[in-house]
Amino acid sequence: MSQHDVKNEIVRLLSANEFLSGEELGSKLGMSRAAISKHIKALQQTGLDVFSLQGKGYRLAENIDVISQEQLINAGLSSAIQVDVHNIVSSTNDLAKEGIREKRNGHVYIAEAQTMGRGRHGRQWHSPFGANLYFSMVWHFDGGFQAMSGLSLAVGVALCEACDVVGVPEARVKWPNDVLINDKKLAGILIETEGYSDGSCSAIIGCGVNYRMPGSTETIDQPWTDLTHVSRSTLDRNEVAVALMNALYATLQSFEVEGFESFKDKWEHLDAFKGREVKVSTGVKETLGIASGVDSSGALLLEVCDDDNNKVIKHFHGGEVSVRVR
Ligand code: BTN
Repeated sequence: MSQHDVKNEIVRLLSANEFLSGEELGSKLGMSRAAISKHIKALQQTGLDVFSLQGKGYRLAENIDVISQEQLINAGLSSAIQVDVHNIVSSTNDLAKEGIREKRNGHVYIAEAQTMGRGRHGRQWHSPFGANLYFSMVWHFDGGFQAMSGLSLAVGVALCEACDVVGVPEARVKWPNDVLINDKKLAGILIETEGYSDGSCSAIIGCGVNYRMPGSTETIDQPWTDLTHVSRSTLDRNEVAVALMNALYATLQSFEVEGFESFKDKWEHLDAFKGREVKVSTGVKETLGIASGVDSSGALLLEVCDDDNNKVIKHFHGGEVSVRVR
C-alpha cells in the first residue's frame, strides 16, 4: 500500500468509527502504532482535525462529508463526466495534466486535500483536508488558444450558477476569474494549458471553492467566505460538488460552440464591481476608473478620463482589479 493509500484508509476508518486506537488502526493496516502515529501527524499537517483521547484513541474532530464516486453519482453527476476521487494529492491540476491528451472532455479530478495547491500569480491555495472543494476538469479545444478567449470568465459564471442551484444566489464574478460573495472570495479558478503542434490545445480548469473553511487560515492574504456560512440551509458537500461539476460541464459545452460572446450578458449581470470605482494593476502600472463590464473577448472595460478630461473606455486583457478605497 502506498503512503497515500495508507492515509486514505486511516481517514476512511476514522470516518466510520467513533474512536479507534493506534493499535486497532495498526492491526487493520498491518503496521505499528508508531507508524500510524506518523501518518496521523502528516494528516494533521494537511489540515485534518484529528484528536486523541487517552485510553480511547483517535477521533475526527468534525465529521467529514467525504467525497465519494458513489455519492457524486447519487447526487446526480452528469453521466458525461468521468470523475477520479482522491484523498491527498499535490494539486488536482497536476493530476489532470498527466497524459492529458488521452483524456475525454469533462474528465475531473477531485481531492480532499492538496499539499501544493496553486493559486494564480504563484500564490498558494489553502487546501485543508475535507474542508473545501478542489477539482480540475479537462477540456480540449481544436481551435487552439484563440478558441479559449474569455474561458476563465465563462467558468466564473458556471460557478455562480452552481451556487444558485444549491440555494446561494449571492455569488458574483470578479474579473478575470474570481467568485465573490459580499466582496469576499468564495472561489478561485486556475486555468493551465497545453498546446500541440496541430494547433489544438487542452485546458486544465482548476477550481477551488470554499465550502467550510476550518479554523487556521493565517496563510490566506485576502478576505474570504465559505458556502457553509452564507447558506441558509445545510449543504451536502457531494451535492455542491455535483452542482459545480455539472454547471462547468454544461458551460464548457456551450463555450466550445459559441465562445465567450454568449456568456457576456450573463457575466455582466453577475459582475460584482460594475459601476464601481476600481484600480486595475498591470505590473507596475495602476489605472483608476469605473468598472464598465467586458467586451466580447472578455477584456475588462474601464471608464477613465483622458488628458482633455473626456471619458474614454480602456480595454484590459490582463491585470488585477481591486475596489478603490478612499
Ligand atoms: C486563484 O488564485 O484564485 C485560483 C485558485 C485555484 C485553486 C484550484 S484548487 C483545484 C486546482 N488545483 C490547484 O492547485 N489549484 C486549483
